[in-house]
Amino acid sequence: MTNQDELDTILAGHMGREGALLPILHDVQAAFGYVSEEVVRRIAQALNLTRAEVHGVVSFYHDFREAPEYRPVLKLCRAESCQARGVEAMVAALPENPRVAVETVYCLGLCSVGPAAMIGHEVHGRLDAARLGALVESLA
Ligand code: FES
Repeated sequence: MTNQDELDTILAGHMGREGALLPILHDVQAAFGYVSEEVVRRIAQALNLTRAEVHGVVSFYHDFREAPEYRPVLKLCRAESCQARGVEAMVAALPENPRVAVETVYCLGLCSVGPAAMIGHEVHGRLDAARLGALVESLA
C-alpha cells in the first residue's frame, strides 16, 4: 500500500463524520510519523477547509509533527503538577544531547507520580534530574 493509498483509506474512514479533522490528523501522524504539507493540502481538500485551517490545527497541537523525527523521542511533562514537583529545574540541568529529541507535553495523566516522561508507550514517573539524564542517555 502506498502512502497515497493509505491516506485515501484514512480519509475515507472519517468522511462524513463531524469533527473529522483531529481523528484524521492522529491517524496520519500514526501512519506516517508526521503531517506533510502535501497531506495538509489533501486533508483540506477532502474536508473543504483551507490549508491555513488545517495547518493551524497541526501547528497548535504538540502531538503533530510537520517534519519527520528520526531521533528517539522522550516526551517530558511540563504541566502544572510536574512543575510543582520540580521539572523545570530538571530541564535546566539536563545536558544537551543532539541524538535524542526531548519534547514537551502537557500532562501524561501521571500527576501524582510526577515529574513524568514517556518513551514510546512506556511511562516513567517519580523522575529526578539523575533519572531523567539516565533515560536520555539510554536513548542516545
Ligand atoms: S502534570 Fe505532569 S503528568 Fe500530569
